[in-house]
Amino acid sequence: MAKNTDSSTVARQGSPGLRAAAALSVTVGLTASVMLALGQAAYPWVKAVHVMAIIAWMAGMLYLPRLFVYHAEAPAGSELSETLKVMERRLLTIIMNPAMVIAWVLGLWLAWAGGWHTAGWFAAKLVLVLALSAVHGMLSASVRRFAEDRNDKSTRYWRIMNEVPALLMVGIVIFVIVKPF
Ligand code: HEM
Repeated sequence: MAKNTDSSTVARQGSPGLRAAAALSVTVGLTASVMLALGQAAYPWVKAVHVMAIIAWMAGMLYLPRLFVYHAEAPAGSELSETLKVMERRLLTIIMNPAMVIAWVLGLWLAWAGGWHTAGWFAAKLVLVLALSAVHGMLSASVRRFAEDRNDKSTRYWRIMNEVPALLMVGIVIFVIVKPF
């Protein structure tokens, strides 16, 4: 019965992945239209959307390992474990994946349009952003492992992993705002 209700809800609202893809297409389409219509004047608008995407991406990057800390302590098959699986999957597919794609597309456009691609600070920022994206990929694989009750990492491990995105963010923001070289 609960399963029927759940599947009829999904049928009515569309799957989270589909809705995320639709939202992503609308955002990219709107931004591309603004870029075409405004030319160089689009730069601050694109930067504003880039920062919004970063806020959404970082919110997930800071919260997902925290959910893993609770999940690693929850017995497999428990109600808490099953609830956390849903929270983790939705956070990843609805918020983090689309936000990362938008941040990358707009960030690369900003680098090209602003002529930053030859700047030293941009190279340094890119290295840290690549590291952040690798952590994203690793967290994404962990969502799948938790979904199959196959996590083999301790809560201590997830507590330490929880700090990595924050540390990378400190470096990235200093490079892009201070532009030390
Ligand atoms: C995903 C790849 C990314 C690329 C290619 C990229 C590239 C850029 C570029 C070229 C700018 C314009 C800089 C300027 O106009 O001064 C910018 C702005 C900015 N980026 Fe990124 N970025 C990326 C990810 C990130 C991440 C992960 C963060 C933070 C954690 C971030 C934070 C910012 C901020 C705060 C600004 C505004 C800086 C300002 O107005 O002075 N970016 N980004």
